[in-house]
Amino acid sequence: MTQTHIISRDQSKLSLLVKQIRFEANGINSYELVHPQGEELPPFSAGAHIDIILPNGIVRQYSLCNSPGERHRYVIAVLRDEKGRGGSKTLHDALRVQDLAQVSAPRNNFALVPEAKKVILLAGGIGVTPLKSMAHALDQAGIPFELHYCARNPGCAAFREELGIAWQHGKLVHHFDHGQPEQGLDIAALLREPEQGTHLYYCGPAGFMKACAEASSHWAAGTVHFEHFKAPAPAADTAALAPGAFMVKIASSGAMLEVPADRSIADVLEQNNIRIETSCQAGLCATCKIRYLEGEVDHRDYILGDDEHGQFLTACVSRATSPVLVLDL
Ligand code: FES
Repeated sequence: MTQTHIISRDQSKLSLLVKQIRFEANGINSYELVHPQGEELPPFSAGAHIDIILPNGIVRQYSLCNSPGERHRYVIAVLRDEKGRGGSKTLHDALRVQDLAQVSAPRNNFALVPEAKKVILLAGGIGVTPLKSMAHALDQAGIPFELHYCARNPGCAAFREELGIAWQHGKLVHHFDHGQPEQGLDIAALLREPEQGTHLYYCGPAGFMKACAEASSHWAAGTVHFEHFKAPAPAADTAALAPGAFMVKIASSGAMLEVPADRSIADVLEQNNIRIETSCQAGLCATCKIRYLEGEVDHRDYILGDDEHGQFLTACVSRATSPVLVLDL
């Protein structure tokens, strides 16, 4: 593949043409991005996301929601979040058909595992985006699935046409609560008796994530998979106990750097001309993952597994509970 529009020295950034913007539901637009010369795009798997570098320089992650079998386009859907950090509003306001959007190559922290006999996909609101891509992939692979899509009302449910097709191997069930949670999907009942070989994937807002986590806490290890699209608010007691300044030591040089209470490890490294790649800045994507050699880490991320926490930290959000962390840099 010839990448004539690479914009980054790391050859992972693309400049893609906004071919189509569609109204999908209240506050939700989808954006179809294609290569300006019609070339194939780097492949992706269901559950993958891309970074978009917005015109004001901020970076946001959005899940790809089209079929991973499609090589000619990436499709994302964005809910305009009036209370958010501003990324979705900027994207809604600034991105137009025929613009060139600066995006990363796809990365996947939420991939389907191949061994499932059956799959339950649980979507809350705009959390449907990675699960829609999974539904396409599962249908093509002949793996039975159910996609439960929870939304406030039909006007808030995106992709009514695309998801309303006759699936070969799965089914879509909408759940509309009309603002009354007790009228919505009974998640606990749905997940009460897991069948052997069934895997669960869920994505949605914080309350939905919590309900799914609680309802699936008895499922077998390795069968439950989820992705936060927004970092949960820290618990009040955690926030109150937030550690203050600590030191990081650079293993290769021995340099000691102070990380103040209001700065991240990534900030301090950047200030000291030690470049590490970052993306979400919220502990969601693992782009800033660094190996550490000594010290006690307060991880605070939503992406690394327990097995990784013993060796790695995320420089954008991790703090120390020991006076010094030694970084393998
Ligand atoms: S930049 Fe995404 S986890 Fe740190």
